[in-house]
Amino acid sequence: MYFASPMKVLMVGSLLGLVMAPLVVQSGEEDIIKYRRNVMKAVAGHMGAAGAIVQGKVGYKGDLASHAGALQALMHDIPGLFPKDSDFGETNALDAVWSKRAEFEKRAKDAGSKAAAFAKAAQGGSAGAAFKELGDTCKGCHKDFRRKED
Ligand code: HEC
Repeated sequence: MYFASPMKVLMVGSLLGLVMAPLVVQSGEEDIIKYRRNVMKAVAGHMGAAGAIVQGKVGYKGDLASHAGALQALMHDIPGLFPKDSDFGETNALDAVWSKRAEFEKRAKDAGSKAAAFAKAAQGGSAGAAFKELGDTCKGCHKDFRRKED
């Protein structure tokens, strides 16, 4: 009779794990998830910097249009960052992103227009109101479509 040693079971187990892992999450999708999280982080970076200028915490008024322009560019197609099959793996996106797609797209479109409005306002003088309206779109979408990190 043949008894598999615990060591062998462990080795076969981890080999299987290696073989199975790519089947569970295809690397293309993992890369997309990483990419969109980095885009969101970039968006947050520009928001933080723009906020400090708008609130008068720092000078750098000459940079405001750059931050606002970057936000407009990065937020022009948020749904494009959430293709089908990118709903598992290292993501905090809720199922609602896919199951309530029409609502998600509506929020994304609204956020895109608010970013465009902020970019326009940033070229003039006071952009505080437009900045706040844009910030509200981030919060609103995260509340319904993003898992809270503990
Ligand atoms: C239409 C919906 C939507 C809008 C609008 C939106 N986000 Fe997000 N955001 C998400 C979702 C969904 C995730 C989770 C992505 C994931 O984990 O795969 C996310 C993730 C993030 C993250 C976490 C990135 C990470 O993984 O470390 C930050 C930061 C962020 N968003 C900032 C912002 C800011 C700032 C704005 C507004 C200027 C904004 N987002 C607008 C849906 C949105």
